[in-house]
Amino acid sequence: MLENENKNTNDEYINNCEKACQHTSYSFSDRCKNLEGNAIREIFKLLAQPDIISFAGGMPAGDTLPKTDIKTIIAELLSSDKAVSLLQYGATEGYLPYLLSGIEYVKRVGINNISLDHILGISGGQQGIDLACKAFLNKGDKVLVENPTYIAVLHILKTYEATAIPVKSSDAGIDLVDLEQKIIEHNPKMLYLVPTFSNPTGRTIDLEKRKALAVLASKYNIIILEDNPYAELRYDGTALPAIKHFDKTGNIVYITSFSKTISPGMRIGLAVADPLIIRKLTIGKQATDVHTSTLSQAVVSEYLNRGLLSPSLEKNIPMYRKKRDVMLSAIEQHFPKCAEFNKPQGGLFIWVTLPESIDVSNKIFTQAISRRVAYVSGDAFHADGSGKNTLRLNFSNATEDNIKKGIAVLGDILKEHTAVISRM
Ligand SMILES: Cc1ncc(COP(=O)(O)O)c(C=O)c1O
Repeated sequence: MLENENKNTNDEYINNCEKACQHTSYSFSDRCKNLEGNAIREIFKLLAQPDIISFAGGMPAGDTLPKTDIKTIIAELLSSDKAVSLLQYGATEGYLPYLLSGIEYVKRVGINNISLDHILGISGGQQGIDLACKAFLNKGDKVLVENPTYIAVLHILKTYEATAIPVKSSDAGIDLVDLEQKIIEHNPKMLYLVPTFSNPTGRTIDLEKRKALAVLASKYNIIILEDNPYAELRYDGTALPAIKHFDKTGNIVYITSFSKTISPGMRIGLAVADPLIIRKLTIGKQATDVHTSTLSQAVVSEYLNRGLLSPSLEKNIPMYRKKRDVMLSAIEQHFPKCAEFNKPQGGLFIWVTLPESIDVSNKIFTQAISRRVAYVSGDAFHADGSGKNTLRLNFSNATEDNIKKGIAVLGDILKEHTAVISRM
């Protein structure tokens, strides 16, 4: 009897709680309550549908992921005397062999003469951006971003209650005149840039501008957060040094990642900066995730030390170049003539601009999804909410056949809408 009574009280309690929960409005922090999911992460849910041709994500092609090499490396590491330490907690700064390979690795973009106190192992490039924002930004601080810019930065800035100030950008990259004006007008803490094969535009900042940017950062004492995950994916032209290469005053925080060249699932990248900055990022990281997976760091370090990255890039780059070219010719063939698009020298994206009156964020997007093709509408990348007439197309992840089919479908839909304006 007592048991039953208890059970009834318990059930009643649970029922009451459930009712209460349905009516509760949680008191989320000011920081989080107005945050919306990142548009691409939301589109990912749609992409779970198997028959969708996706130009939406920024994923490396599945067949570039080095399954066999990673399997071999993990098997060897876990049968060695390092196994226990690789499965244990590690230092927040990073796993020493990984940091040493990182110091070698960043020489590829001209970052030389750094020591262990200039480098931090991070759990992907995104964490580097987050940690830098955590270290530098107070509520209300201003951060300059290219317009358009990497979507997640806009999201991260909101979580730190900072304000993104858009700076003009064109095929030649960020506009230095507008940049300097905005620096003077807004007194920003930071400028965020993806200098090479940018996400979303595929644009690259040239050598002279890189030098000028380093000078501007010193002159106005602002931080440049240089996010460079695509530099290795170059299909044409010659490699460029990082802006960090020209940094004489410690104003540049360099972030890179192995997500696009080895595996995004490993969640692994590097931050390089002045030791005082690295120390602050490290303290921030202690609170975030303690340290990056030691196993991932060990695997990537082995992968680099065994010289596996260059041959893998040599194999993957022609494949990506071909996909880019297939997409470019399909756009040429199927898109309305009023569509403007660039030919990126590398990276994973093509950027398309339509006449101002065409809005690809809404009806056209729904039509595309109903015909099983996905892309990301460009407004998601604009700090000022503009860009509804632009779209980002990823070419790395669909097959060549699907690129042709998907672009033909998009071309059809776009022509239907642009025909209306050409008749007006
Ligand atoms: C410009 C840019 N920065 C950072 C990231 C995040 O990379 P990771 O997977 O290394 O966190 C991406 C991923 O798409 C990106 O495009």
